[in-house]
Amino acid sequence: MCLIGFGSSGQELCRILLERKERITSLTGNKVEVVAVATKSRGNLVDHSGLDLKELLKLAESKSGFHDHPSLVRIDTVDLIKESGADVLIELSTLSIKDGQPALTHIETALDQGMQIITANKGPIAWGYKRLKEKADQKGLQLLFESTVLDGTPVFNLVKRALLDCRVEGFRGILNSTTNYILGKMESGLPYEGALQHAKDQDFVEADSDLDTKGWDAAAKTAVLINVLMDGNVTPMDIDREGIDGLTLDQVQAALKANKRYKLVCEGYRKDNGIYGRVSPQVLDVAELFCAVNASSSVICLQTEMMGEICIVENNPEIRQTAYGVYSDLLHLLNS
Ligand SMILES: NC(=O)c1ccc[n+]([C@@H]2O[C@H](COP(=O)([O-])OP(=O)(O)OC[C@H]3O[C@@H](n4cnc5c(N)ncnc54)[C@H](OP(=O)(O)O)[C@@H]3O)[C@@H](O)[C@H]2O)c1
Repeated sequence: MCLIGFGSSGQELCRILLERKERITSLTGNKVEVVAVATKSRGNLVDHSGLDLKELLKLAESKSGFHDHPSLVRIDTVDLIKESGADVLIELSTLSIKDGQPALTHIETALDQGMQIITANKGPIAWGYKRLKEKADQKGLQLLFESTVLDGTPVFNLVKRALLDCRVEGFRGILNSTTNYILGKMESGLPYEGALQHAKDQDFVEADSDLDTKGWDAAAKTAVLINVLMDGNVTPMDIDREGIDGLTLDQVQAALKANKRYKLVCEGYRKDNGIYGRVSPQVLDVAELFCAVNASSSVICLQTEMMGEICIVENNPEIRQTAYGVYSDLLHLLNS
């Protein structure tokens, strides 16, 4: 495997690979090695015989990163993908919501090299799903991305493997945990700025907090769901988007007094032969399922053709869930 990104999810994936080394072989008959790792600042590594993941995890903690490692290569990420000789690309680099790059190029390069793809990065699926899927299909390669929307909670696998010939008509969900957390803090009496700071202190917020509070992350997830589950062809720019940054403490408290709660709701729906997406703060009755979804938890309800409405709640996910989604994609790939 060629691993792009060695941040929190890349490192957690490596911990799982170390823990499950024998299990992977017994479940799939395959032996997995990481032969290349790319980062933005810690250095890039290639070793065709396999890198020592325990050592990499230790080095990731150090200031010098991989810069003193004997397998250090001075090539950029795209060249590293070409040089890696890997069978599988695992794309876990930083999300760019405005265009999905450079991850989109990383995946296209890997497909050109005949590599299978697993990504937790929603950018490429929000911006280029149709193009990437077509290319993967033409080459008989797989493009897997379970962790892009609800971490490891199976949404795409549920539809692909269990809901055969059952069209997804639409969906509603709370998909951005940061805004859900901030709204909860405002309900407990903190004004918007204080609640945002609280979320930052818990490390819940993207480096650019607008990505969360103005609904961009939610719009990217909505675009991914529309593209994949509803066969749409949209980008995050096509989603009708309103964040929570305009909400005041008074509004949130007034809703609470009326037995209602504000939630940032993502929706995908069909109308007049078109497919549309919307992200907006909505006032919901406390009796609704969405109001039982608190803090960093998420929920998605799929409206389906033959199975009515199916809802899945992901309770307080941590980084293991994201890494598990990538690991489960890997097992599916190795078994297929
Ligand atoms: N964290 C989660 O729970 C979660 C959940 C679902 C999806 N995701 C998605 O998974 C991806 C990774 O998340 P994360 O939390 O692991 O992020 P992270 O901790 O910020 O790590 C990102 C990694 O990508 C590297 N990187 C950035 N630009 C790169 C480039 N051009 N070439 C090679 N490497 C590059 C960074 O290098 P440096 O180490 O040098 O900075 C870092 O190692 C993101 O797209 C995120 O949206 C994350």
